[in-house]
Amino acid sequence: MQVLVVLCVLFLSAAIARADDPILIRFSHVTSEATPKGHGAELFKKLAEERLGGKVRVEVYPRSLKFNDDQALLALLFGDIELAAPSFSKFRSYSRQMQVFDLPFLFSDVDAVHRFQAGEAGRQLLDSMVPLGIKGLAYWDNGMRVMSANRPLRVPEDADGLRFRIEPSAVMQVQYRALGVATVPMPFGQVREGLKMGLVGGQENAWSNIYSKGFHDFQKYFTEARHSFLGYMLVTNAEFWSGLPPEVRGELEKIVREVTVEVNRIAGEKAQSDRQRVIESKKAEVITLSDTELEAWRAVLKPVWSAFEPQIGREIIEQAQRANLSP
Ligand code: SIN
Repeated sequence: MQVLVVLCVLFLSAAIARADDPILIRFSHVTSEATPKGHGAELFKKLAEERLGGKVRVEVYPRSLKFNDDQALLALLFGDIELAAPSFSKFRSYSRQMQVFDLPFLFSDVDAVHRFQAGEAGRQLLDSMVPLGIKGLAYWDNGMRVMSANRPLRVPEDADGLRFRIEPSAVMQVQYRALGVATVPMPFGQVREGLKMGLVGGQENAWSNIYSKGFHDFQKYFTEARHSFLGYMLVTNAEFWSGLPPEVRGELEKIVREVTVEVNRIAGEKAQSDRQRVIESKKAEVITLSDTELEAWRAVLKPVWSAFEPQIGREIIEQAQRANLSP
């Protein structure tokens, strides 16, 4: 009997200690700390722990230390992490509509992307995966993608015969097929090695990812066609989020809004400064296209849209096009 009482007391005190434990939020991502997303994850941790003193503990796992980008969304669904910010291309298995962000030459600039995200379709996309267990909290920027290779790409024909690393994106697959380029989907964490070993001869990415990973150590030419935008959806496990105490959830949502402003500010800044750092390294040349050259890329790549319209929906594509017009 005495043993039973002691066991009950031990069990109860353990349960009480668990109730008092801070809520653990594990944020896994694939880029370095020196990128907009890396800064965003660290700032989220700082603000959440400062403002929710003792109620929340945030662990950040950058550089694919915990999960690769092809594993992060499953890990989120299985409850192995609570936050992730995969690039738009990584959502294809969960939402075909998210492919809108990858369509080449759809958005004219970052402001157009922001207008689309703030509009009806953009807001709906944040909740489009809730039935599957994934809740979108915010959109985060990185920057316009730049194509690279070891030969100068000035017109589409220059890319013919190359092999490019792509994100797991059906749009990118079709886009590069139109250019006569073979594609190898590869997790972000393996791209530097893939370029170094010559497994792939080209890739496309935003300047902060290129510079922080040193892709310019193995790529001589970077072509700025401004054909697509690399951005993220900050996502959480929908059940975890709705189960948070309302005051904690409310404060975290406020923090997410603040962090988003800062991430996007840093993204704008790094799109210039990391580009400049690559130029100053003198390891690579940045190719700026003439209007005629740009038109040639547009002519080859825009027809890719039609293959994806049935999956994305005409209305969403039209809303994206309307976002190109200044308000
Ligand atoms: C990222 O910025 O999260 C990775 C993008 C990529 O896979 O190239």
